[in-house]
Amino acid sequence: MITATETKLPKIKTALPGPKAKEVIAYDAKFMSPSLTRDYPLVAERASGAIVEDADGNAFLDFAAGIAVCSTGHCHPKVVAAIQKQAAEMIHIAGTDFYHRHMPEFAEKLVSTMPKSDKWKVFFGNSGTEAVEGAIKLARYHTKRDKLIAFYGCFHGRTLGSLSLTASKSTQRKNFGTLLGGVEHIPYPYAYRCALGHTRETCGGEIIELLEQQIFKRLFAPEEVAAIIVEPVQGEGGFIPAPLFFLQELQRICNKNGIMLILDEVQAGMGRTGKWWAYDHAGITPDIVLTAKGIASGMPVAAFIAKESVMNWKVGSHGTTYGGNPVCLAAASATFDLIEGGLMANAEKVGNYIFSKISDWPNRFKIVGDVRGKGLMIGVEIVRDQRTKERAADLRDAVVDNAFHRGLLTLGSGENSIRISPPLIIDEEQADCAIRIMEESIREAEKKA
Ligand SMILES: Cc1ncc(COP(=O)(O)O)c(C=O)c1O
Repeated sequence: MITATETKLPKIKTALPGPKAKEVIAYDAKFMSPSLTRDYPLVAERASGAIVEDADGNAFLDFAAGIAVCSTGHCHPKVVAAIQKQAAEMIHIAGTDFYHRHMPEFAEKLVSTMPKSDKWKVFFGNSGTEAVEGAIKLARYHTKRDKLIAFYGCFHGRTLGSLSLTASKSTQRKNFGTLLGGVEHIPYPYAYRCALGHTRETCGGEIIELLEQQIFKRLFAPEEVAAIIVEPVQGEGGFIPAPLFFLQELQRICNKNGIMLILDEVQAGMGRTGKWWAYDHAGITPDIVLTAKGIASGMPVAAFIAKESVMNWKVGSHGTTYGGNPVCLAAASATFDLIEGGLMANAEKVGNYIFSKISDWPNRFKIVGDVRGKGLMIGVEIVRDQRTKERAADLRDAVVDNAFHRGLLTLGSGENSIRISPPLIIDEEQADCAIRIMEESIREAEKKA
């Protein structure tokens, strides 16, 4: 079948949404939960590589990748073949009750990415939030402590444990009653908005001071704290990378006090920043690492990887029905090989290329306040006024919508940023096309500013 996905670049042939897309949107409104946050009316029908075709045959260049999930692009032939082969051999057996080789095989691959100073063990789940829940339980179990420290702006998921950590948007927590006790939030280093005027490298020293001199002395003693959980690059919060020294300082504090350092790599990991894990840039060794999203090209897989000495819970302490499903792990294994076999290097190369073309946007566009990130995890912050840095959510939404109408899929992030998180397969021609569309979209939004 000839389809629009056979192109490398966008082709829009109808008004958006087209007539068939409109039908699906009306159908969806009848039956689907109204809590879902659709930014714009894309009705996806099929997808291949970095192209998504909608119900009316329009082809979009995908710089959202299903929220940083489709790391190898859509329907990579090697991932599809692995899924098909495994689906014909065995779909499910429940790795909690029985053994199958796919679990240790893929766990060994994940462990090969971890610092060699320690031995590591793996637990598989199905979603990012499940990895977070498991890590909270493991940290509490291992330390026999219950307090948790997380950061403003962070997003760790929407189930009640992970939601207690999430501090991204109050609507995500509103009306859900009392959440987990013992959670304290502290500021996240946000260089663009640093009140002390620090740089991307130096911002956050005062937060370390707050933690050690205020929280630990006035709220709860460090020996009560089970874990500090941090995103090395805040994802939903606006694609904000933590300075490397900040992560190193967190490790120092955790090591000194027997606190578990949990790195939530659900959005930033699996090669997206040019290294397996975004924390690798800081050269640290966390106690527990969480991954999901980009791990299996769209199949539901999550994992938490912990030091062997930390994952010391007893039989029956934690389990799952679907976690480690053979078909999902076949996809994960194929994804891993592709990332290791070149896509991680491509993320760094094309990420640097994009940066070299857009880092001067704040000089060229009056509504662009900041361009930041690493590899193919790039945030663009939209402001009403570069001097006051007033957040301009309406202009951000306009840029995202303008890009959609020109055939580029992006997503908002945080209050007023745009996330650029394409599949790791994109090349410079696709990057150039996306940059051109983004620039046109920003220019058009600027007229409203
Ligand atoms: C850093 C981070 N952690 C956890 C989650 C939750 O993942 P999921 O939606 O798969 O539950 C997300 C989702 O966006 C995330 O970005």
